[in-house]
Amino acid sequence: MSTSCFSLLILAALAVPSPIAVVAWRPWPHHFASSSNATTTSIVGGGASGAAAGLGTMKKYEGSSEFVKLRYHMGPVLTANITVHPIWYGSWSPKQKHILRAFLRSVSASAAPHPSVAAWWSTVRLYTDQTGANVSATVLLGAEHSDRRYSRGRALTRLDIQSVIHDAVNARRRPIPVNPRGGLYLVLTSADVAVQDFCVQVCGFHYFTFPAIVGHTLPYAWVGNSATQCPGSCAYPFAVPPFAAGLRKAERPPNGDVGVDGMVSVVAHELAEMASNPLVNAWYAGEDPSFPTEIADLCEGIYGTGGGGAYTGQLLVDGESGAAYNMHGVGGRKFLVQWIWHPYLSYCSGPNALDHQ
Ligand SMILES: *[C@@H]1O[C@H](CO)[C@@H](O)[C@H](O)[C@H]1NC(C)=O
Ligand SMILES: *[C@@H]1O[C@H](CO)[C@@H](O)[C@H](O)[C@H]1NC(C)=O
Ligand SMILES: *[C@@H]1O[C@H](CO)[C@@H](O)[C@H](O)[C@H]1NC(C)=O
Repeated sequence: MSTSCFSLLILAALAVPSPIAVVAWRPWPHHFASSSNATTTSIVGGGASGAAAGLGTMKKYEGSSEFVKLRYHMGPVLTANITVHPIWYGSWSPKQKHILRAFLRSVSASAAPHPSVAAWWSTVRLYTDQTGANVSATVLLGAEHSDRRYSRGRALTRLDIQSVIHDAVNARRRPIPVNPRGGLYLVLTSADVAVQDFCVQVCGFHYFTFPAIVGHTLPYAWVGNSATQCPGSCAYPFAVPPFAAGLRKAERPPNGDVGVDGMVSVVAHELAEMASNPLVNAWYAGEDPSFPTEIADLCEGIYGTGGGGAYTGQLLVDGESGAAYNMHGVGGRKFLVQWIWHPYLSYCSGPNALDHQ
């Protein structure tokens, strides 16, 4: 559902006594958000990668767990062509928009070099509805809207996000279309916009709009640029949280923008979950539907083989820039994107895996 902050993952890691349990089970953020103020010491550098080293002989442990009971709850998944409508709230540079648009265009770009974003999406495509229809292979970049005037202010509640969507579909000039069949509304807030629970509990979330606010029931997501508010939490590993500085160095972002490169993985997370659980009644684990654990929640922070706890897993490094990434997109772009829960293998999977596919 929501992408939680890296520092919460660390707190969760500390709250669990055994490092093996940490790498094997990734709890829903709200279950641990208030659980512990454990003093944060050396888990980030030594602890997690040490755990990873200790598990070297166990090949398939990226998030794998017998405790994960992902179930289908009979609701729809997005089987029609998906059209993503970005809504740029606040101040966005053309360069920042290019990065996020390139990622969205990459999801269906099967010609990109291996390991590709499109191959990453193939795990999302394994999820089906009651009729056996798969999540769509086609993800298109649709009409966009810019709200440069911060028309709902610089501090938004969760519900305000729906008002931003209301404004975009009712704009006097070039409103974005209402598309209940495959339309996804992606509100992106610039670095100077505060959003309820941003940085404290979440980096992004998805839900569906209420007819009373927007006039329609539409799947939507919000993702914020954390560059100035909490990059160590929401743009990890391109920044590290203050308590971990000195224990671990930040990775170089593949598109040269810590905040926006960090947003790419959060956007990917929300996109995968909107496609497989658009009305929050299809694919999720956990008994409580108000806190579902969805297909990307299960793999948060895992970007490569061996990932788990605070260890990202094995990443690729760009020879020229030294940037960390794990998949290729359109136009020679590189991205770092978290993995997705594989419904048959019962562990997290991504195109850069060294030991499967
Ligand atoms: C965590 O720390 C904050 C601030 O230091 C404090 O207000 C809060 O009560 C603490 N929570 C727990 C569960 O210890
Ligand atoms: C559709 O989903 C089924 C069930 O998960 C899977 O076996 C099949 O490979 C999927 N098809 C595609 C094209 O991904
Ligand atoms: C869906 O997208 C494909 C391209 O991937 C296109 O060929 C097809 O016509 C689209 N279908 C609809 C109903 O728009």
